[in-house]
Amino acid sequence: MKDNDRWYKRTTVTSALPYANGPIHIGHLAGVYLPADIYVRYLRSKGEDVIYIGGSDEHGVPITIKARNEGVTPQQIVDKYHEMIKKAFADFGISFDVYSRTSAPIHHETAAEFFKTLYDKGEFIEKTSLQYYDEENKVFLADRYITGTCPHCGYEKAYGDQCENCGTSLSPTELIKPKSALSGAIPIKKETKHWYLPLDKYQGWLREWIIEGHKADWKPNVYGQCKSWIDLGLKPRAVTRDLDWGVKVPLEEAEGKVLYVWFDAPIGYISATKEWAKEKGKDWKPYWKDKDTRLIHFIGKDNIVFHCIMFPSMLKQEGSYIVPDNVPAFEFMNLENDKISTSRNWAVWLHVYLEEFPGKQDVLRYVLTTNAPETKDNDFTWRDFQARNNNELLAILGNFVNRTLVLTQKYFDGKVPEPGAFTDNDQRVLHEIKQFPEKIGNALDNFRFREALTEMMNLARLGNKYLTDSEPWKLIKTDEASVKTILNISLQICANLTILAEPFLPFSSIKLAKMLDIPVHKWNDAGRTDLLVPGHQLNKPSFLFEKIEDDVIEKQVQKLLETKQENEAKEETISPAKENIAFDDWIKMDVRIGTILEAEKVAKTKKLLKLVVDTGIDKRTVVSGIAEQYQPEDIIGKQVCILVNLASRKLKGIESQGMILMAEDKDGRLSFISPDDVFSNGSEVR
Ligand code: 2FM
Ligand code: ZN
Repeated sequence: MKDNDRWYKRTTVTSALPYANGPIHIGHLAGVYLPADIYVRYLRSKGEDVIYIGGSDEHGVPITIKARNEGVTPQQIVDKYHEMIKKAFADFGISFDVYSRTSAPIHHETAAEFFKTLYDKGEFIEKTSLQYYDEENKVFLADRYITGTCPHCGYEKAYGDQCENCGTSLSPTELIKPKSALSGAIPIKKETKHWYLPLDKYQGWLREWIIEGHKADWKPNVYGQCKSWIDLGLKPRAVTRDLDWGVKVPLEEAEGKVLYVWFDAPIGYISATKEWAKEKGKDWKPYWKDKDTRLIHFIGKDNIVFHCIMFPSMLKQEGSYIVPDNVPAFEFMNLENDKISTSRNWAVWLHVYLEEFPGKQDVLRYVLTTNAPETKDNDFTWRDFQARNNNELLAILGNFVNRTLVLTQKYFDGKVPEPGAFTDNDQRVLHEIKQFPEKIGNALDNFRFREALTEMMNLARLGNKYLTDSEPWKLIKTDEASVKTILNISLQICANLTILAEPFLPFSSIKLAKMLDIPVHKWNDAGRTDLLVPGHQLNKPSFLFEKIEDDVIEKQVQKLLETKQENEAKEETISPAKENIAFDDWIKMDVRIGTILEAEKVAKTKKLLKLVVDTGIDKRTVVSGIAEQYQPEDIIGKQVCILVNLASRKLKGIESQGMILMAEDKDGRLSFISPDDVFSNGSEVR
């Protein structure tokens, strides 16, 4: 087999291992799993030797943070989500050859051995350095345990390992204004030893391999990101962490340390291949070590640096592995014009979709592929989902198949008719049919999934036009022989569609093949116009797709609207905590219990009351903005909290000496903060 002038024997396809800390949503599907699945199904159909590797990424700080927040163990978190993700993928037709997990013993062995090989070769730099440490929680703050401002783009919620805004890979010490994600505290620095992969040393090789070697065949977004990182200059990167959840560093001196999740996770592809090979009685090695194997990583754009720079460097230095041939990374899918967000529940969750739209996997597969964020971020909307189903799947593909099968039932009792002499138009259509496998295949070979799907639909369009132009329902009265030819050709198109639609719409392909009572043939059979032999009895047709009504879509839109309202309410009611202050700053504030002795309105103002307060220290005047809610006579004698060391300031010509502390809710209601018993004036509030 040949790809970009290179002969190959087999292909290893991986798709990013999702973190097992939450369910899968449409963004994951559109950006990674669907294109990978389409590609693999296509190669399988071509009869190529291909394996599709998947699994859950079960280490890393996001998982430990979630476990901590929920008061359970990390293992409980990953067990729950691994099963959930695995099932949803299977139900959606994502056809992994193996779906493994990085908490599996085989993975721990493989990852530890990989580290040890590099260690024994002297590849790592060992370095003791000062790293951020959260004193309250007694942990070093790596990766997502620490947040701060990105030094490259100014994004304020960058993580210690990566800025999700600009994609740059970071180390915690690069963050501006770092703080602990656990306690919010400003961390101290403490000494610790770690092992670093000297990416700077591999820069020359990476430049040659990517910049000179893959300019033409890698997607521009992937190539561009790699080039700018390499041009910027790479730095050694720590591959170990002070954590207790992960693959233990296989060195005696590394007690209490684990491998960095981005060191172990991609090795998960190899461990999963071993698991697959063991189960199938095969050898895993050729899939990772034979130079005639193509390695292809499907990932989202936020994973580019790890799959194009770090993992290939690891593979190369280990010495016995191949490096990726291509890393087709997609951009992001948005939902109704807003970024998909797990924390804001702004997503269409796969497991929920499968429950609410039973039997409609292919509709979502179709919509996500036609809108695939191949070259730029794209948007999923429920109205578009409905329109694509009703106006395309149903009106073009479903309609063509249905017309062909119903007419064949009606005129020929469901038996494939014998074609007669071909007209010029028949010849033209027969010729066009033959072009589709190559057109679709060519687009798929180059990871242009939208184009490939459009071409597949064009075959159904061709069929529709052919039927409409040749009008067999009129001809049947005068020229049955021609109708036989027309329906034979239309049926051959249907048979071709079972093959050519299979990578994209596997459930519909099988359904159609059942109606035709044929197996789904291989790709090499596509283009043939004798897939159905005359006299072959077809099964009774049913609808390939159903109309999706407005009320179904309305329900989904409403659900999102409610989510939006809930989010807005949350954002409105609770403003985020202000930046942390040091304890020393807090104790500078001198708050006392005082009693209001006098109160009167400040002339020509609506809001202000002039109060005289006995603070225990003195009797002083305070101007307070509470006149709209309190009558002066009602508050005389009230005990309140008063900040007594606030610099005095003039309000409407009155010197105000301090501030009365009040609570204020989202509707602007005010309440004094008062002691729950009578307290002597001057009591300190701390
Ligand atoms: O970004 C993510 O969701 C990561 N869990 C992807 C890991 S891919 C691989 F290296 F395993
Ligand atoms: Zn940034």
